[in-house]
Amino acid sequence: LPLLLLLGVFAYLLGSVPFGLVVTKVFGLGDPRQIGSGNIGATNVLRTGSKSAGALTLLLDGAKGAVAVLIARAVAGEDAAQLAALLAFIGHCYPVWLKFKGGKGVATFLGVLLALVWPVGLLVCATWLAAVALTRISSMGALVCASSSTLWMLLLGRGEALLLGMILTLMVFYRHRANISRLRAGQEPKVGQKS
Ligand code: G3P
Repeated sequence: LPLLLLLGVFAYLLGSVPFGLVVTKVFGLGDPRQIGSGNIGATNVLRTGSKSAGALTLLLDGAKGAVAVLIARAVAGEDAAQLAALLAFIGHCYPVWLKFKGGKGVATFLGVLLALVWPVGLLVCATWLAAVALTRISSMGALVCASSSTLWMLLLGRGEALLLGMILTLMVFYRHRANISRLRAGQEPKVGQKS
C-alpha cells in the first residue's frame, strides 16, 4: 500500500505540471489564462498564434500522463497503472500549484489511454483528429473522442480499463461545461480562432 500511495502522489504531481504555462513562458508568449477561453491547454495556447507552442503543449501534457502510467506499471503492475492514469488526469485538471485551477484533460486523457491500452489509445487519437478536422472545433473533438473510448474498448474487446475510461470521459465532459454551453449556443470558436 505505501508503494501505491507513493506512485499515486507521484502521478498526481507529474500530471499537475502545467506544460501550457511552461511552454508559453519559455516561448515568451504571455499567459494563456489571459486570452481566449482562459484555459492552460494546447487549444488555448494555439490562440497565442504559435502552432509549435500549441503542438508542444499537446505533446508534453500527453507525455506526462503516459509516463506516469508506464512508471507505475513497471513498478507495481496494471492496477497501479490505472490508479496513476486517474491521478495524473486529476493532477492536470486540479493542480495544487494553480490553486486547483487546471486544464480540461484532453491531452492527458489521450496520453494515459495510449499507455494503458495503446490500440484503443490510437483509435481514440484518430477519432479526435477526425472530429476536429470535420468540425474545426477542438472541444467538439474532445467530447467525441472521449465518448468514443468506451465504444473502442468494447469493439476491440479491450475492456480492462473500461470503468476508468468511463470515469475519465465523464470528467472530460464535466471540465468542458463552459464549452458545452457555447456549443449549444453556437458560439464555440473554431480552432485557432481567438475568441
Ligand atoms: O482541451 C480543451 C479543448 O477541448 C477546448 O479548449 O480552450 O477551446 O476551451 P478551449
